[in-house]
Amino acid sequence: MEFPFDVCRALRPGNDGIAIIRSKDCNTREVCEIIDAMGNASAKAQGLRAVITTAVRFFSSADTALYIKIEGKRVVGILKTGYRKLFYSDEMGRISEITPLCLLDFYVHETLQRSGHGKELYTKMLQVSGVQPNKIAIDRPSPKLISFMRKHYGLCDYIPQNNNFVIFREYFRVISI
Ligand code: COA
Repeated sequence: MEFPFDVCRALRPGNDGIAIIRSKDCNTREVCEIIDAMGNASAKAQGLRAVITTAVRFFSSADTALYIKIEGKRVVGILKTGYRKLFYSDEMGRISEITPLCLLDFYVHETLQRSGHGKELYTKMLQVSGVQPNKIAIDRPSPKLISFMRKHYGLCDYIPQNNNFVIFREYFRVISI
């Protein structure tokens, strides 16, 4: 997606073309414009009635991070995460409370999907947050994201929850040393 200003100057990405913005950071008019436009496009791509990512909501939330991929003069995609307190029901109906890092929004521009940009954003998020893929909960994953998680991380098995978050069974895997 193109903007009528220099997106690199506005976002200051690293050498990998990915900028990381945190909700406690200061915002600028240009950064807000990028977040609103990409948030809108993401909601449309997912067929959602309400936009999940807006600049106002992002900068007023606690402890949320936005990863933005830039290529040349274009913004390619966004990925948003934050910690959320969730109730998890296992197959016996036993409820437990967990606070995982959650994937809250994820979008790559239509013309650039299936070219590895999504994997680059996801890899960066895992590196920066220091969280393993099986420990991420996903808010309302789309069929494309279900396919993405199976392909790149071998994750596909989960118990449907009332809260629409997907927590893979692997979340509870105990790693023996
Ligand atoms: N249909 C089915 N699977 C798709 C897909 C599509 N149109 N686009 C991407 N995928 C999945 C597949 O597993 C694909 O592997 P394949 O091409 O071998 O089948 C894999 O993602 C490609 O990985 P990558 O190129 O790194 O992903 P991406 O850059 O396309 O980004 C998404 C993945 C999900 C962010 C992107 O497709 C997107 O923005 N989709 C629309 C919005 C959305 O559904 N967001 C998820 C919100 S929960």
